[in-house]
Amino acid sequence: MKSALKYLKPYALTAVLAVIIKFIGSVAELVLPLLLDYIIDDLVPLKDVTLIIWPGIGMLVCSLAAMFGNIFANRLSVKSAAGMTHDLRYDLFKKISYLKSGQVDEVTVPSLVSRLTSDSYYVNQMVARTLRLGVRAPILLIGGIIMTFVVDVYMALVLLACVPFVTVAVIVITKKSIPYYAKKQACSDDMVRAMQENISGVRIIKALSRGDREKRKFHAVTERLGDTDFSAKRVMSLTNPLTTLILNLGLVAVIVVGALMSAGAGSVLAVLTYFTMILNGMLGLSKIFVVLSQGVASAERIQVVLEMDERQFVGTYPAGNPDYIVEFRNVCFSYNGVEDNLTDISFALKRGGTLGIIGVTGSGKSTVINLLMRFYDVSSGNIFVGGRDVRSVPPEELRSRFGAAFQNDFLMAESVRENIDYGRNLPESSIQRAAESAQAASFIAGLEGGMEYNLAQKAANLSGGQKQRLTVARALAGDPEILVLDDASSALDYETDAALRRALAENYPDTTKIIIAQRVSSVMSADSILVLDDGRQIGFGTHETLMRECEEYALIYRAQMGEEV
Ligand SMILES: Nc1ncnc2c1ncn2[C@@H]1O[C@H](COP(=O)(O)OP(=O)(O)OP(=O)(O)O)[C@@H](O)[C@H]1O
Ligand SMILES: [Mg+2]
Repeated sequence: MKSALKYLKPYALTAVLAVIIKFIGSVAELVLPLLLDYIIDDLVPLKDVTLIIWPGIGMLVCSLAAMFGNIFANRLSVKSAAGMTHDLRYDLFKKISYLKSGQVDEVTVPSLVSRLTSDSYYVNQMVARTLRLGVRAPILLIGGIIMTFVVDVYMALVLLACVPFVTVAVIVITKKSIPYYAKKQACSDDMVRAMQENISGVRIIKALSRGDREKRKFHAVTERLGDTDFSAKRVMSLTNPLTTLILNLGLVAVIVVGALMSAGAGSVLAVLTYFTMILNGMLGLSKIFVVLSQGVASAERIQVVLEMDERQFVGTYPAGNPDYIVEFRNVCFSYNGVEDNLTDISFALKRGGTLGIIGVTGSGKSTVINLLMRFYDVSSGNIFVGGRDVRSVPPEELRSRFGAAFQNDFLMAESVRENIDYGRNLPESSIQRAAESAQAASFIAGLEGGMEYNLAQKAANLSGGQKQRLTVARALAGDPEILVLDDASSALDYETDAALRRALAENYPDTTKIIIAQRVSSVMSADSILVLDDGRQIGFGTHETLMRECEEYALIYRAQMGEEV
């Protein structure tokens, strides 16, 4: 909440101006019935029209001031709320893009999306409405009561007697509705999650004809959201009728008292008008409570993210063996902190060498890369890059040594060249060499416009293998010290895969290569191969050594190559 208010600071002048103008407008509104009372009860009986001119002009001025003041102040408050929301969203977006992988896992992507969209909207509503009603409502309420005292003390006392009832009604109802709003936000997270899954998984849903199932699932989520919203509104909808009822009863009492005290028609009329104003003031306050409770809940959800420390801890750790470019020493790691996803992994790789990593799906291959590039930190053990513990190197410096094509990596809806260059302004020769080595040059030449060909969203206008080759080209283009290819050639035919490996060896002889694959043929020529099974290292060595010593590796090899050993 505090940090949300901090965002209002640059717009404080606009906001204060809105409040002042609103104040003037509301006071002008309050004066109107008093003038009316004066004209009807004191001037009309004198039967001299000229006497009414000045108070009449006064009424006109007050009406105009009330109208224009309200319009202008509302515009200013919307303007400051919009500016503030823009800044808040921008910072939140920036924060999210720097969050550590573990933090994203913790909050979850759908929840981040809804914090960025609906939560920031509620904060916007809170600020805009509070600026609009925050001044007007109390002035109408308190000013209305004071003015009725000015008009007629007895009628005012009757009115005052109603106020506690109305206040209690408003407070009780608003309090009851608040928990529903917090629940609504959680439901909205679920809806975004369901929506995301549906949109990104649209093909598989169609392929498996699971449309009906997904529709039912989505329906259930939206229904829950609707129900919670309905519950909140059902409670809130009591406010208006209940307060109106209490005040209407009060009105009857006012007229009775007015008649008994033989008050003038102008006074009764003025008191009735103040009654409506007081009611509006009450309802305004209850609206503020609602937007405040909703906005505060949302601001807190946003604040949790804004306060996350995205900086990765950089400390001093003992050095590793500088002869190795990559070294894992007794590395254990768990994503959830409960069961290990990697257990006691130890291996080392010489500069310029090639490491193959193989293992069944879920065995921990990608996790090795996640740790090496420090998307997550080890639970125990050490990972060294160039003899330095990865936790002692600033993350940007560490990652600048890598070029990586991740599993199911994404491409942007931009030109082929921009996808390879990726905003690094690389020399044309590097881009060409990368495209050629990645076996992408020939298909790029066949595209309309070649390098300038524009990719569709998610590169939907390329084949799976073409996409993979582009991500490999992107990884190579920066001429990295260490190249990581996670399952990056799985969609390539054997021949292209072999050509890719040859090109890597020829064109990037000094680059250290880490190649993750399901296919033995992709890794068997590597200097050493790491075999993983269920997060454990069950083999490490050359193809020949593993064929002799690692039963599982030999099994995979025979199954894939169809060769009796
Ligand atoms: N972000 C995450 N949070 C929690 N668990 C995860 C996360 N990422 C992976 N895991 C779990 O860690 C284990 C290893 O996953 P990993 O992605 O390393 O497997 P992999 O060998 O790369 O598999 P594949 O060949 O299918 O890519 C799996 O059991 C997986 O469920
Ligand atoms: Mg993987």
